[in-house]
Amino acid sequence: MRLCVIWTLLAIISTAHGSPLIDATKDQTVTISNTHPLIFYHGRWDSSPGTWWADSGLKLNVQDLSALTLNLGSHTTSPLASVGVSVDNSPFYQVNVSEGANVIPLSAPSSPDFEGEKSGSTLVRINVEGWQNNRINLESITLNKGAKLLPYERSKLAFQFIGDSLSAGQYLPHGVNQAWPFLTGEFFGAEHNINAQPGATLSDIPSYGNVHGVSFEFFRTEDTGYYYTTDHNYTTPWNFARDVPPTHVVVHIGANDASQNVTDTGFFQVYDNFLTRLRTLYPTQPVFVFTPWGWPQPDGPNSYYYETVYPEIVKARHDIGDRNVFLVNTTGWVTYEDVFPGNIHPSVAGHIKIAGLFEKWLENWGLKQV
Ligand SMILES: *[C@@H]1O[C@H](CO)[C@@H](O)[C@H](O)[C@H]1NC(C)=O
Ligand SMILES: *[C@@H]1O[C@H](CO)[C@@H](O)[C@H](O)[C@H]1NC(C)=O
Ligand SMILES: *[C@@H]1O[C@H](CO)[C@@H](O)[C@H](O)[C@H]1NC(C)=O
Ligand SMILES: *[C@@H]1O[C@H](CO)[C@@H](O)[C@H](O)[C@H]1NC(C)=O
Repeated sequence: MRLCVIWTLLAIISTAHGSPLIDATKDQTVTISNTHPLIFYHGRWDSSPGTWWADSGLKLNVQDLSALTLNLGSHTTSPLASVGVSVDNSPFYQVNVSEGANVIPLSAPSSPDFEGEKSGSTLVRINVEGWQNNRINLESITLNKGAKLLPYERSKLAFQFIGDSLSAGQYLPHGVNQAWPFLTGEFFGAEHNINAQPGATLSDIPSYGNVHGVSFEFFRTEDTGYYYTTDHNYTTPWNFARDVPPTHVVVHIGANDASQNVTDTGFFQVYDNFLTRLRTLYPTQPVFVFTPWGWPQPDGPNSYYYETVYPEIVKARHDIGDRNVFLVNTTGWVTYEDVFPGNIHPSVAGHIKIAGLFEKWLENWGLKQV
């Protein structure tokens, strides 16, 4: 009799809500909204929210994870954007995602040791790989039933890299994930943001498809790609309060200024102004200024640019009492064997070599892995 009353009540309730109660138990998944405070976003995301710039992405620490789906909106690159995925600090593997639901494999397709359900907590890291076609518009994340987001504990170290194609991973099969800044950041166990725009000058002038230089773009949410879209053909200021403040800043730029015939004096001035502006954001952090490794030639020495200017840029900071700016002399780091002959950019092995040399340089300077 009593049971009967309860069942009748339940029937009324479920009818009143338009969805039978049984659905609540049938629902096997957990949906995480893009505003969930335990999603750790890094890099540059617009308000959609959607990524710009290679290496932008998110990190999740998940309790009892066995399935993860990214639900992406209409601002996602069509037909696809390539992302790098790492689970529990595995090497990054490539996954191509598109607008709609994207099931993310939780181990590399080739990996023999897929464990299925993981007990305890699992760290998932996802970032866009490309310097173009790099937009993922995150609507929500679907996890398996019982999974739960935990706080992500971020590294004590955080790099901010600033550069051009030589830092962005242009021409590499897995983009920025194989580029020396990414490798260096990973080596030290650091957070890393990489704002590197192929073809761009530091000077704010048009160059190889860029409508602005890095001295402008670095302060914006969007990379140059905005100009080539119809759904977001504008650029907005970046709110630097959204970044984990970097502990170390690395700048490797000038190749395109040289190609655009910016004079030594002009380059010195734009770089000096840029460092002054960076100091308003990063008042005390060490800043590492790379000299060019030059363009290797099939026969004969590398061709260099602004060779005498980089030491002057660093000296100018020292002269005003800013001793925390360091010249990284990369002369000799890259030979013809380290580059793709067709475009003289470092190959996959070349980037590994550069990363190794810079890691050693930083260790000698005093930086330790965390
Ligand atoms: C992702 O897409 C690119 C471009 O179409 C393709 O070359 C690559 O093989 C794809 N990667 C995977 C893991 O399917
Ligand atoms: C974006 O806007 C600019 C004008 O501000 C225009 O020249 C350009 O062609 C637009 N890009 C696209 C893809 O429509
Ligand atoms: C730069 O100068 C060289 C040599 O004078 C010239 O051949 C080249 O066209 C110039 N490039 C630009 C972008 O002005
Ligand atoms: C950079 O290193 C090269 C090779 O060791 C050397 O010839 C050059 O003088 C160095 N440049 C500076 C500015 O120290």
